[in-house]
This record gives sequence, structure tokens and C-alpha cells, in this order.
Amino acid sequence: MSDLQHRILQVLDAQDVIQDTKVQFPELDSQTVQAALNSLLARSMIKYTNIETDYWLLTDEAKDIVQNGSHEFRLLQEVTTNLEGLKIADVGTVLGKNGKLGQAKAFKNGWIFKDGDRILTKFKDRPLPNDETAQNLKDIKENQGAGVDKKELQDLKKRKLITMSKIVSYKVEKAAEFSLEIVQLNADITSDMIQSGSWKTAKFKPYNFNSEGVFPQSGALHPLNKVREEFRQIFFSMGFTEMPSNQYVESGFWNFDTLFVPQQHPARDLQDTFYLKDPATAKRPEDKEYWENIQRVHQDGAFGSIGYRYPWKEDESLKMVLRTHTTAISAAMLKKLAEDPKPTRLFSIDRVFRNEAVDATHLAEFHQVEGVLADYNLTLGDLIGFMQSFFDKMGVHDLRFKPAYNPYTEPSLEIFAYHKGLGKWVEIGNSGMFRPEMLEPMGLPKNLRVLGWGLSLERPTMIKYKLSNIRDLLGHKVSLDFIESNPAARLDEDLV
Ligand code: PHE
Repeated sequence: MSDLQHRILQVLDAQDVIQDTKVQFPELDSQTVQAALNSLLARSMIKYTNIETDYWLLTDEAKDIVQNGSHEFRLLQEVTTNLEGLKIADVGTVLGKNGKLGQAKAFKNGWIFKDGDRILTKFKDRPLPNDETAQNLKDIKENQGAGVDKKELQDLKKRKLITMSKIVSYKVEKAAEFSLEIVQLNADITSDMIQSGSWKTAKFKPYNFNSEGVFPQSGALHPLNKVREEFRQIFFSMGFTEMPSNQYVESGFWNFDTLFVPQQHPARDLQDTFYLKDPATAKRPEDKEYWENIQRVHQDGAFGSIGYRYPWKEDESLKMVLRTHTTAISAAMLKKLAEDPKPTRLFSIDRVFRNEAVDATHLAEFHQVEGVLADYNLTLGDLIGFMQSFFDKMGVHDLRFKPAYNPYTEPSLEIFAYHKGLGKWVEIGNSGMFRPEMLEPMGLPKNLRVLGWGLSLERPTMIKYKLSNIRDLLGHKVSLDFIESNPAARLDEDLV
């Protein structure tokens, strides 16, 4: 309990009412008084009402006048001290910026008159008149201008010498729980209180229905999901359908062979790909013809291709892997498309796994954003044009393309964008036209061409949320507060 609360209670005890806290405690500001009153009020020990009083305050200029006299009076004094008055041209230099104001007022009062280029006064050898402005201001300062008439007050207000302010004080009276002692109030009823029965006599804090509640705990979308949602909207706006990508495990057949990745390709090494122990092998795919087509196109050459000409092994193809790219899903979807070939746009955004050295920006898993677009007689120009309009939607406008290599696309292009922050071109995606060796074994018509591209979801997300360590985004070190408080993502210029 504060000292002030005690003082208030003691005064009330002695005299039942405090008519005006401003009079009772002149040294205290109204906020301090109100805080003390409110806590007594919450305990129903007192009740109080506000008293608002108008109050004149002197401006800095007025305070100066109270000390040194009004502008007009100082001008008059100046004129009387010089034998030949004051040169009009000198008013500003002698009296400063308020000199002209004082001159006008002194003329109006009839204190001075003009003689050629000089100011003279009839008060040369007479007692000076009263400096009423200064006196009025002094009166206002000392006792709120009791002796100053209303018109004069308004005039001083107009001259910006005084301003009206309100002071709040309080009339205080005893209430039902009045006492000289302040009892500690309980905020909650506890099991101890119930067991001991002390709740019967305990005093409780009243509910404060005006206080802000505790924000309820609720779920929040992970930043990757927010950016993923933005990508989905871009794909949907361009007429794409989402592929069912909810399977992390694939056979080597779908992850590699169908994509014309030879069985000796380094990507298939243990160092790059996670192989499953249990189950270690997949069943053969049901479509026997397709299975044989894949073997032929790798081993002997087919569909106009001379193939890789190596002994293709069923064992290798049936190994179970954690998918290394979502292109395995794209392959399965394109295979399905061969049953009823037509122009198609498909996308997926999902997790892939690679046995890679883990560092600040790489984990052994990431999310791939992948699109495939099938249409008749597509060319490399369509791929470049489409990439430009796709990245345009992300706010990335200047792209450069660099020839690259993928086993399943020819030609293949790496996509670069200029990163203003880093001041250099950075790779933002990989793309290409799927090879006939991939599409024709599926049974797709020769002239239905398919272009595809992929990028990571993590990179734009880290740029968007200004993260430099992947562990701030994924894993047990991620701050929940970061997840909960981040706004929804908009893909825009600062993405690259
Ligand atoms: N799968 C490729 C990757 O892992 C991305 C890609 C998809 C490239 C489709 C070309 C076509 O980077």
C-alpha cells in the first residue's frame, strides 16, 4: 500500500470527506492521486467524483512580460530615456522582434506620437502610466485573474499570452469497505482456500471487465506453408492442377529409371540418395509394357534413341528410396496422361530428400516447387516465355538462362535472377524440355511435348523472412514466437 493511500484514508477518517484533492494535496499531480484513488475504489473503501476546473496558463511570452514588462511599456520606457525620442527605424534593433507590436499598442494607448521619423512621448517628465498588461498577467499567474475582467482575459487569449487548460481533481468520500487498513485482496480462489475454508472470509479482487484478455493460444501456419500457399495461388491463377505428392518413398524405377537417369548415374549413389532398409525392394510396376519399354530405352535404345547401352538391372530399379525430387510424381502423372493425352498443367510443392552435407543453408531434406506443362509442339521458346511469366508473378522480372544438364530434359536451362542485395546473379531454378526417352515409353504422342521446372521453397522463404540459417526455419531450434508472429507472405521484389 502506498503512503498516499494511507494519507487519503486518514484524512477521510478524520473529516469524512475530501472536498477537493487539489486543495488537500496541492503538491501532487492528478494522475498520482487518481492511481491511489482507483486502487482504493477497487476495494470499495472509497468513492470519488471528478472536479474539473478551468485554469489559465501563461505562455512563455507572457511569463517574460510578467518579469520584464509588456512590449508597449518597454517601448515607452525606451522612448522616455532618450532626449530626442526613438527613431522609428531603430525600434526593431533596440527592442527586438516584439518591438513593432509594442509600438502599435503604445500608439493605440495614446502613450506615444510620431514626429517625422521619430517617436516621442508626452510622458517625458510625468509619472509613467500603469503597465496593465503585465499587471493582469501577474494577477492571472498568482490567483487565476480574479481581478481581471472577462473582456481583458479574452483579449490576452487572442494575443496568445494565456491559454485555457483544465485541471482535474477529486471529491472523495468513504464507501462500504472503508477502513484504515488495506487488506490484501486475493486474485483467485485456490484449492487450499477451499480445503481450509478460508475462502469464506477471504476478500477477493473484483472482476475487471475492462482489462484486456490474454491472447488465446492457437495454431499458426509455418512460414514455409505461408510461402507455399502463395506459390499455390500463382499456379492456380495460371490454370495448374495440384499433383497428389503425398508419398515420400518411391522405387528407383519411378524416381530414376522412368526419368531416363542411368543406373550408374552419380545421383543414384549411396552418398546422394537415402535407400530404405525395410522394405528394401518394391514390387514390379503393373504395366509390363512400360517396364519393358524403360529397360529397352536404357539398355538397347528405342523410340529413335540409341539408349545408354548398358545392362539394365531390375534389382537396381526396384530399390526403395526416399524420393530425391518430386519429378518422380510428375513422371507418374505424365504416364497417366498417356491414357488420354491432352494439354495439361500440373504442379506440386512437397518434401524431397538428399543425402547431402548439412550446413547453414542446407538440410538433408527440402521442399521442391515443381511445375510441368504439356502441350502440342512446344519449343524452347515456350519454355523461356513461360518461365518469364511465371517468375513475373513472383515479382522477379529479369531472368537469364544458362544451358545445363539433366538426364531427363534436353535442352535444360538453369534460371538465374539478379539479387539486388547480393549484387549478383543467383540461380533460382532448373528447367527443361522432357526427353522423348522419358515421354515416348509412356505412350505419349510424339508431338505432345512437356516442359518442366523446379525450385526450392526454402530459398525464397529464407529471403522473404530474412533468415540466414536454415535452422531458424526448420528443426528443434526454431522459435515458436517467430512462427506465431510472422505475417502472411507476399511474393514480391525482395524475394530474390
Ligand atoms: N527435378 C529437378 C531438380 O531436382 C527440377 C526439374 C524439374 C528440372 C522438371 C527440370 C524439369 O532440380
